[in-house]
Amino acid sequence: MKGVILAGGTGSRLHPLTRITNKHLLPIYDRPMISYAIEAMIQAGVSEMMLVTGGTHAGEFLRLLGNGQEFGVDRLFYAYQEKPGGIAEALSLAERFVGGDRSMVMLGDNVFERSLRPCVDAFARQAHGARVVLTHEADREHLRHLGVAHLNGARRIERIVEKPEDPPSEYAVTGVYFYDETVWKVLSELQPSRRGELEITDVNNWYLDHGLIEYDVIEGFWGDAGESMQAYYEVQDFVREHGVNQET
Ligand code: G1P
Repeated sequence: MKGVILAGGTGSRLHPLTRITNKHLLPIYDRPMISYAIEAMIQAGVSEMMLVTGGTHAGEFLRLLGNGQEFGVDRLFYAYQEKPGGIAEALSLAERFVGGDRSMVMLGDNVFERSLRPCVDAFARQAHGARVVLTHEADREHLRHLGVAHLNGARRIERIVEKPEDPPSEYAVTGVYFYDETVWKVLSELQPSRRGELEITDVNNWYLDHGLIEYDVIEGFWGDAGESMQAYYEVQDFVREHGVNQET
């Protein structure tokens, strides 16, 4: 399985901090944000990866990560997104790198308390399709800023709704996704959403429509440090007090 870490975007929700650097390079406690996603992948057993970024600060990633070996990466590849076109568009840049293999995709601003290894193992046992990682979130206002799974009898995902006015459940979709090789065909047929971006939720809903998605509900803390200034500081506080990417 190959890893793809998505670290592009304009980071407008963290302006003005992101006028001077890429969001994923901002500090979270004692390290740049992106380090946590890389660590999470390595710890889950995925050690060959591509980092997709863009914008004016892309060169700083090379300065921080180099060939990745200091971070435990076996082989680190980079791709450059010419203009922000959404998470799914960024993912399409990794097609040749992943080739016919399966992929673990992670948004570079997501931070998890617990190891993702059980999810990687579960996907390895899955015959085909995709897998998403859900987290329980009771705060309805927070759910309105995320992708939310509409669960059928708490077993099957019926639909994933992006930033719902009326959240259909208390289970948010985190920024970790697993795909088989069909994903490239799905991406090539995707239409831009109303905000003009290729949405990862549309990719996941394609798999849902074809009965090809499974999921895990991850325990412990999860945060999207790029979601808002509030979220950025919640993640900071958690990392500082408890540490993250913990093997259980
Ligand atoms: C993205 C996804 C959303 C998901 C979130 C997790 O949102 O579109 O479904 O819940 O990441 O971090 P964005 O951060 O682009 O608003």
